[in-house]
Amino acid sequence: MFKNILVATDGSEYSQSAVRYAIKLAKECNAKLTAIYVINVRGEFGLFRALFKNADKVLENEAKKILFQVKDLGEKHGVKVDVVFRKGIPSNEILKLAEEIKADLIVMGSRGLSGIERVLVGSVTEKVIANAKCPVLVVNRYV
Ligand SMILES: Nc1ncnc2c1ncn2[C@@H]1O[C@H](COP(=O)(O)OP(=O)(O)OP(=O)(O)O)[C@@H](O)[C@H]1O
Ligand SMILES: [Mg+2]
Repeated sequence: MFKNILVATDGSEYSQSAVRYAIKLAKECNAKLTAIYVINVRGEFGLFRALFKNADKVLENEAKKILFQVKDLGEKHGVKVDVVFRKGIPSNEILKLAEEIKADLIVMGSRGLSGIERVLVGSVTEKVIANAKCPVLVVNRYV
């Protein structure tokens, strides 16, 4: 089954479901698990980054915190998690890393920080589904 899983997280509730599911799947498949967080240079933090000189430092710390939590949760379940933090356009960075590490599955939340319920999936997930060269597993809710 899957041998090399990539999970994308923005720290949102949805992405935490994706992370929980990815850890379970990695354990069951005995797969390698990598988690990525991307500091979004365009979207939700645009204004924050424009207004504060040290915004990237703050976001970087936030990224590390989120990724550390993923690593920690993995360890609790006996799954080693490699963590990667990038800066750029989230969908591009997720797609790039998936190819770099030759992921055979990308796991993502249906929505993220915006969490607008009337859209089927958020724009990051939409772009990854549309352009990924491997299957994409979209998780809505998983406790
Ligand atoms: N900056 C990010 N880094 C890593 N993964 C991300 C990032 N942003 C989103 N994702 C992944 O994409 C999933 C869906 O989030 P997305 O951003 O597409 O939805 P949204 O925030 O609700 O809507 P939008 O961003 O389009 O306003 C998240 O659960 C997460 O798996
Ligand atoms: Mg988003």
